Amino acid sequence: MRITLLFGWCFLVLFWFYTHNRVQGQCPAYSPKFVVQHGYRLYGHVITWLYAEKEVLCRLKCNLEKRCLTFNYEEATRVCELNDADDEKDLQETQGFVYGDMKKKRKSEVASTSTTPPTSRPGSSSLLAGHSCKKIKDLGDSRGDGEYWIDPGNTGQPFTVYCDMTTDGGGWTLIKRSNLTFIYRYSSEFDRNDYRAISNYSDARQNILTTAIQDLRITMGFDQLRYRCRKKRINRTLHIMTINDTAGYEVLDHLLVQPTWPTACNSFERLQDDTSILARNCIKWGDYFGNREVNRWGKSSNKGRHRVYNYVIVLEPNHRLAFMSGGPHYCDDSLPFASIGDFWELYVR
Ligand SMILES: *[C@@H]1O[C@H](CO)[C@@H](O)[C@H](O)[C@H]1NC(C)=O
Ligand SMILES: *[C@@H]1O[C@H](CO)[C@@H](O)[C@H](O)[C@H]1NC(C)=O
Ligand SMILES: *[C@@H]1O[C@H](CO)[C@@H](O)[C@H](O)[C@H]1NC(C)=O
Ligand SMILES: *[C@@H]1O[C@H](CO)[C@@H](O)[C@H](O)[C@H]1NC(C)=O
Repeated sequence: MRITLLFGWCFLVLFWFYTHNRVQGQCPAYSPKFVVQHGYRLYGHVITWLYAEKEVLCRLKCNLEKRCLTFNYEEATRVCELNDADDEKDLQETQGFVYGDMKKKRKSEVASTSTTPPTSRPGSSSLLAGHSCKKIKDLGDSRGDGEYWIDPGNTGQPFTVYCDMTTDGGGWTLIKRSNLTFIYRYSSEFDRNDYRAISNYSDARQNILTTAIQDLRITMGFDQLRYRCRKKRINRTLHIMTINDTAGYEVLDHLLVQPTWPTACNSFERLQDDTSILARNCIKWGDYFGNREVNRWGKSSNKGRHRVYNYVIVLEPNHRLAFMSGGPHYCDDSLPFASIGDFWELYVR
């Protein structure tokens, strides 16, 4: 009697699971009408793309995405493109691609009441994430500036980051953006020693420590830092990036590994919109054990794990770059004021 009851229960639970999953369409493998064509790619209908370890995961993703009718999968790059069309006329022979048609009902035929999972984004599961903004850009799969899922350490725990895909060719991962509403008081509870905190890039309160950024450098790989800031009342933009060469790497080592206050001139480039006094006067940078205008990054008294934000550049007494949460915020000035809309950004590539 009890056993029958148990069986009944199990059956009900299984039945519920089965129907429930079927309604959501989560069993693509059982779709009898699914068609796959090797060596083909559908052009002009990609709604989103992501990385998928295997073609079957790309298919699963398409099935979960309401708008997805077909997909292209490139085995070499593991890029999975989801299409919102199945027009045969846009199908072209393309080496290395697999084209899959889910034979789903078209948009207009899908009942508006059907339950759907949230809109798919690149890397919306642990198996489906990019490596870095740079890699995504290099693969030609940028969708413009915005958030992307990455898992640089292949940990199976992807997270979102903001990618700048336009400045100087793009591929920049945002570490921190301080877009001030007020100056946050320093509190060590906002120190982050895990690079995943860059997910919270717009939280001006947090300071991602140099050690965490260096960890990201080792795991994800990057060669350059880029600083951009602007204070309205100063009306100048500071916008510079370190050069991808040994002089630039010395700056990265100084800011992220061990302070050495390296040579300023020839270590960075100005971006087009830079109008700062700092960037045009590298020879006068530095405050090195009491000596000023020594052509060096940073300030010798500032060597803690915030030095990537705090007194990054000084040209005493009137020009500085600093934006540590809780500390003074300078952008090509030395005034202890900031107003709403003033911003500071740090990117890596
Ligand atoms: C983002 O910020 C929130 C709130 O401060 C915090 O709880 C969360 O752990 C942060 N996320 C990461 C990945 O650090
Ligand atoms: C800000 O600077 C620009 C030149 O860089 C100038 O054209 C503009 O008038 C300035 N705005 C204010 C409010 O001073
Ligand atoms: C900063 O925030 C303001 C207001 O929220 C917004 O208009 C502006 O675009 C932001 N600036 C940046 C660089 O994010
Ligand atoms: C920096 O230079 C190296 C070697 O030339 C190159 O492989 C790498 O892609 C460059 N990095 C960036 C961010 O451009």
